Amino acid sequence: MEPILEELFRQHRDAEAMLVKLAAGIVRLRHEGAGGPGVVGELIEIRKDIQGEVRSHFREEELALFPVLGRHIDSSTGPIAMLMEEHALFRQLELQFEEALASLESGHHNGWAEKLCEAGDAIAQLLPPHIEKEESVLFPMAESILEEGEWAEVRRLWSEAMQAAEPA
Ligand SMILES: [Fe+2]
Ligand SMILES: [Fe+2]
Repeated sequence: MEPILEELFRQHRDAEAMLVKLAAGIVRLRHEGAGGPGVVGELIEIRKDIQGEVRSHFREEELALFPVLGRHIDSSTGPIAMLMEEHALFRQLELQFEEALASLESGHHNGWAEKLCEAGDAIAQLLPPHIEKEESVLFPMAESILEEGEWAEVRRLWSEAMQAAEPA
């Protein structure tokens, strides 16, 4: 398998590990409230994982794989368009999570714990079927359609995107 696809699969396993932590964090928040010892600290750790997922994994798909695969399958409709919509929805939920967590961190408890739980629940519902679609539909499609020269293009686009994000 292409190394970049292997990396995307591996990042999906990291995302699943994040979901396990998120579910546990939400259970603690529901049972103990934001004042429970270490509850907010745990959620802050989870926020780092969520941000890492978006910063590296989503962008690797959006800036490298999708643009090259989109040349073969229309990206304005079909699987790429659907996956992009789910990425947008995830980012919206991420903002709701961060907004609620920032409020809890600064001591505003009024309803924010419940909002954070709702955002976390929605992320937990959205992500597994998204991963499943990529692994069962999009990645196999990429494997069968893209040729070696195009995989080199995917790798080049990704390394350029990384450099743009972190200038030397
Ligand atoms: Fe994705
Ligand atoms: Fe993905």
